[in-house]
Amino acid sequence: MTFLKTWPLRHALLFILSTYVAVDLMVKHRGDPNVTYISSHQWAGQETEEWPGQAEVCSRREGYLEIGDVHELRYKSRMKAGENPWHQMKWVGEVAPCRVKGHLIDKLDDWRNFRRGFTLGFTPDVEDRTHILPWILASKIDLNQRERRVFIDVGANYFNTSVTWFMRMYPCDFTEIHAFESNAQLLQKPSRGFDEEANSVEGNPWSYMTKVTPEAPQWMLDRINIYHKMVGDEDDIANNAINITRFIKEELQLKPTDTVVVKIDIEGGEWPTLRRWINDPDMPKIIDELFVEVHYNHPSMAMWDSYSSGEITRQDAKEMLGDLRWNGFFAHFWP
Ligand SMILES: *[C@@H]1O[C@H](CO)[C@@H](O)[C@H](O)[C@H]1NC(C)=O
Ligand SMILES: *[C@@H]1O[C@H](CO)[C@@H](O)[C@H](O)[C@H]1NC(C)=O
Ligand SMILES: *[C@@H]1O[C@H](CO)[C@@H](O)[C@H](O)[C@H]1NC(C)=O
Repeated sequence: MTFLKTWPLRHALLFILSTYVAVDLMVKHRGDPNVTYISSHQWAGQETEEWPGQAEVCSRREGYLEIGDVHELRYKSRMKAGENPWHQMKWVGEVAPCRVKGHLIDKLDDWRNFRRGFTLGFTPDVEDRTHILPWILASKIDLNQRERRVFIDVGANYFNTSVTWFMRMYPCDFTEIHAFESNAQLLQKPSRGFDEEANSVEGNPWSYMTKVTPEAPQWMLDRINIYHKMVGDEDDIANNAINITRFIKEELQLKPTDTVVVKIDIEGGEWPTLRRWINDPDMPKIIDELFVEVHYNHPSMAMWDSYSSGEITRQDAKEMLGDLRWNGFFAHFWP
């Protein structure tokens, strides 16, 4: 009798299990970043296991701004204040309540001017980017799988300001680098490449194996293109300015199947371009990850920026990042 009774139960369990596996596969497959673009809106609701109320919050733009009770709700569900011994060490920052392209991303921490380590005195350098490292998209998905892997640095400053940071720290082997800096005196390629073979000391008992300090290998320099031009929302020959949207879409012909990482730091000139991009559904598909310094008018910015961003407030900057994420850009504040 027992034998007969348990058979339907086994069938039912098998059915439930296979349905679960099928649904799980479907959901995961939908998340392939380079196949189909899933907007953050569509993603909302799939992460209910994270913390109570997340699905509801993530179905709204406000989810990315982390207003009022949103923060409390998440915090309460994790731990009570003061009980976490690691709290003081987490200066890299907290996680945002809502995912972008299905992946966790850093919280938009305007209280610390988006630079937690510097504001708390953990680093003396405002250019420190340690807080960004744990959230980089290429550490979650393999961006090296794509044949064309492009880094675009808009407002590069010195070669060592951000180009070398991305080449060294970003976990992707870029096949093309396009760096823009209007001031030709700032941005120059390292003066020479070097030949690894000719520069090595044979039989040196120490681990120091080079004759002269090498600069950058030639194969790496060959991938770098430098443009001494202004970058903005429109082509303006008189002002030596190029339209970055056209450059990405038409000149470089970049596609969603390419790896594209973009960094923008152009002293307030980013606003018209970012406003265009949040209304252009192609751009978050083409750009895998975006790093942008959004300039605003605030005393905390005055120390580094002679540029005053007029009436633009810190809240506007935060909302711009929220809107970029809402529209599917895996976007962080830079630096
Ligand atoms: C991305 O696209 C390539 C080529 O179409 C494919 O082989 C690869 O599996 C895709 N990667 C992911 C993570 O889906
Ligand atoms: C970056 O390059 C500039 C110009 O060559 C130099 O003055 C500066 O010291 C360099 N900074 C670092 C961190 O290497
Ligand atoms: C910049 O280029 C994009 C893409 O080609 C185009 O849609 C846009 O109108 C251009 N911007 C201006 C101000 O013309």
